[in-house]
Amino acid sequence: MNKIIEFLNVTKCYKDNVVAVNNLSFSVNRGEIFGILGRNGAGKTTTIKILLNYIFPSDGKVDFDRTRYRIAYIPEENIGDRKEKVWDFLYYMGRLMGFYSPPELKNKIEQLLSDYEILNKKNNQFSKLSKGMQQKVKWILCCLNDPDILILDEPTNGLDPLSKRKMRDWFLQMKEKGKTLIISSHLLFEMEKVCDRFLLLHKGKKINEVNINELQENETLEDYFIRMVGESYSPSENK
Ligand SMILES: Nc1ncnc2c1ncn2[C@@H]1O[C@H](COP(=O)(O)OP(=O)(O)OP(=O)(O)O)[C@@H](O)[C@H]1O
Ligand SMILES: [Mg+2]
Repeated sequence: MNKIIEFLNVTKCYKDNVVAVNNLSFSVNRGEIFGILGRNGAGKTTTIKILLNYIFPSDGKVDFDRTRYRIAYIPEENIGDRKEKVWDFLYYMGRLMGFYSPPELKNKIEQLLSDYEILNKKNNQFSKLSKGMQQKVKWILCCLNDPDILILDEPTNGLDPLSKRKMRDWFLQMKEKGKTLIISSHLLFEMEKVCDRFLLLHKGKKINEVNINELQENETLEDYFIRMVGESYSPSENK
């Protein structure tokens, strides 16, 4: 296994002594799809932001040579109330990334807008797109630098069922190309179809780091999740 990211006893305390991540150690291997799971407030987004160096650990160490890779990130939050046209926004961001020449970039954007079925929205103001369409623009942004590592915080949020399915296929195609994907999501049905391994967080702590084939026989990822972090919830009583 070729580890490319390693968290070593990482703790993150926000103001007012909120311990969002507590003594967390885990690693991600090159070329795998790695899922980060946990209930609301478990520390997933905090972990992702530490990974990206957007925020810094209060304690512990992250071993990740970010300069060696092109990294793409889909944030959980909206990318803002942008007044620009979709096309202008993508073109501007693509030029900043500097990966394609202007004619190549134009072709690439045209192709991606068409693949994601929003080419007819290219002259619309970004902030006036529907939620799912805005999510698609985030996806297109994410593809504009041909990333080696994709870090995706609830990436299918707001997408319709067909678009979700396409996105899932796309995760697997990315993996085929040797990319590494780190995905945080509450959609366990989707996650169990694509992820190789999972980190399960609960109240900032690691509950487990598990391979998909280490679940119990006939156990779905949702069953596993509830077994591990469901506390007083009893699925049999609530079916
Ligand atoms: N900027 C911040 N300042 C103070 N506390 C924060 C901040 N960001 C997150 N927290 C707290 O840290 C904890 C973990 O939050 P985080 O956003 O990492 O959770 P999450 O697992 O991504 O949750 P969700 O599934 O709801 O997205 C929560 O208790 C949250 O309130
Ligand atoms: Mg989050």
